Amino acid sequence: MNAGRLCLLLHVLMCTSLVVHTFEPFTTTLAVGVGAALGRKIYYYFTESCDSNWIDFNATGLQVDLESKLFGQHIASRIILKAVTGFMSNDNPKKPLVLSLHGWTGTGKNFVSQLIADNIFNEGMKSSFVHIFTSELHFPHSSKFDTYKSQLQQWIKGNVSNCGRSMFIFDEMDKMHPGLIDSIKPYLDYYDKLDGVSYRKAIFIFLSNAGGESITQTALDFWKAGRDREELELRDLETVLSLSVFNNKKSGLWHTSLIDKNLVDFFVPFLPLEYRHVVQCAMSEMKARGDTPDMKVADLVARDVVYFPKSERVFSVKGCKTIESKLDYYT
Ligand SMILES: *[C@@H]1O[C@H](CO)[C@@H](O)[C@H](O)[C@H]1NC(C)=O
Ligand SMILES: *[C@@H]1O[C@H](CO)[C@@H](O)[C@H](O)[C@H]1NC(C)=O
Repeated sequence: MNAGRLCLLLHVLMCTSLVVHTFEPFTTTLAVGVGAALGRKIYYYFTESCDSNWIDFNATGLQVDLESKLFGQHIASRIILKAVTGFMSNDNPKKPLVLSLHGWTGTGKNFVSQLIADNIFNEGMKSSFVHIFTSELHFPHSSKFDTYKSQLQQWIKGNVSNCGRSMFIFDEMDKMHPGLIDSIKPYLDYYDKLDGVSYRKAIFIFLSNAGGESITQTALDFWKAGRDREELELRDLETVLSLSVFNNKKSGLWHTSLIDKNLVDFFVPFLPLEYRHVVQCAMSEMKARGDTPDMKVADLVARDVVYFPKSERVFSVKGCKTIESKLDYYT
């Protein structure tokens, strides 16, 4: 809740009570009536609803966030901005937006999902229209698969019925039961409506480590060849990504069926992070905490991170994941 909203509320409450104190029956009735109408308005002002007061895509905001808060991901950043901006500015999309984010842990997949949510929903990740599913948390026992399946379908249907502009994030997609993914396939498809519900304005984001190894290998080959990381292009990664993701026994199942039907709109590779990116993450985190970014501290933090391969020590094993706790230690 921001200060402006609070002021408005206090102001209305004071006005209402002043008017009521005039003791004149007509005015009182009027005041109560006006009060009730205003009350309703205030209720909607405070309670998140599925309209443009609460859901308002900011393309500039997303661009600025991607440029200033996400580090070392020039390919992902470009695809995400184009995909989300294109989708959000289309009033009549043919299907929901489906993004599949791939890469090593700590490279920014969750963070990007948050940036997208921040720039679509006023409440960001706290929005009641944003839903996160983690296989280990929501679907831990494969024996209960049938229950999960119908539950998940009900959730998606219920939430999209509530608000067409709903966002669903599936974390650890590679650990998800393939059948569970099959069960959400219809919602990702080109249907005008399913049982009277249109899913075409929804956003689905899949996060997985699948393909992380081959993305890393490609980035490492580039590095060894002395080439600039920013020269890496999507097409350098597309082949390795599809080979490792779609032919991998573990991740192949779910992807194959999503690919075959072209249900995933964009595959987004996340590159492994280097020392300088870890420094950037640390600087950014200090700034976010309201501290003055200190290069010395950022260097200490980045030096404390483990890098691989063992001989060259090029990429951070956990990306920027442990930066927060390391900062607590060094500041
Ligand atoms: C959109 O984002 C930009 C950049 O962060 C910001 O300056 C602007 O105020 C935002 N617009 C709205 C309507 O929130
Ligand atoms: C929406 O999804 C959440 C899980 O994120 C679930 O708890 C809730 O029941 C769903 N709402 C509806 C109306 O189905």
